[in-house]
Amino acid sequence: MSQNWKQYFDSKAQTHGASVMSSDYYNEKSFFMQRAHTLSWLGELKGKEVLDAGCGVGAFSEPLVAENTVYGLDFSEESLKFAAQRGLKTMTGDLTNLDIETGRFDVVLCIGVIQLIERYADVVSELARVTKPGGTLLIQTLNRGSIQRKMLKLFEKEKKFERMYMMGELKELFERHGLEQVEMMQHYHPFTFVTTGDGSGGLSNRLCTSFAVKGRKRG
Ligand SMILES: C[S@@+](CC[C@H](N)C(=O)[O-])C[C@H]1O[C@@H](n2cnc3c(N)ncnc32)[C@H](O)[C@@H]1O
Repeated sequence: MSQNWKQYFDSKAQTHGASVMSSDYYNEKSFFMQRAHTLSWLGELKGKEVLDAGCGVGAFSEPLVAENTVYGLDFSEESLKFAAQRGLKTMTGDLTNLDIETGRFDVVLCIGVIQLIERYADVVSELARVTKPGGTLLIQTLNRGSIQRKMLKLFEKEKKFERMYMMGELKELFERHGLEQVEMMQHYHPFTFVTTGDGSGGLSNRLCTSFAVKGRKRG
């Protein structure tokens, strides 16, 4: 049976509180490094309506709160208590079926979430739907092609996440849902550098541990 992630992240938040450890990051250093790279790749945001989809305790989008209106959606109510303390406007909900009007947000972020969701294609479709024409959708997840992840899996005692993705798979899904100028950023844990491009490079497909994909909603 698949993991009950709501219960899992509720219990993590009860144990670790506002810490990024509530979101299952490897360690704080790795979280802050990834966040810095991804937010700077996204570019400067001011006066925007932002949705952090699957926000957990809200640590990823916290730096955007000062100059934008940031909404945080999650089904873990325990996590949302901490996201609210960070200044996110919180909403309880399930990403596979969003009760949000079409074209509502300038920027939609979904970080470290789709690896937990079997119906991930529905989530991408919903997130694309709520992104405003001309707005940006950015999703970050785990690379299925990663040699390092394949090796780690051999030693894994408990199954932590459900799925991983190839970059091309996500790029195609973005394009199918009306996103253009689709670009990729690759992270190579535990190294601190990143690469960017269209995701077609064979070596980055094998070596990056996670990646972010962003696109602009046609309109
Ligand atoms: C690994 S954590 C990442 C949290 C945050 N995005 C970050 O990077 O710090 C995954 C989050 O996704 C949420 N989540 C997973 N599946 C969900 C779903 N179907 N609907 C809403 N939230 C979901 C979990 O409750 C959890 O807070």
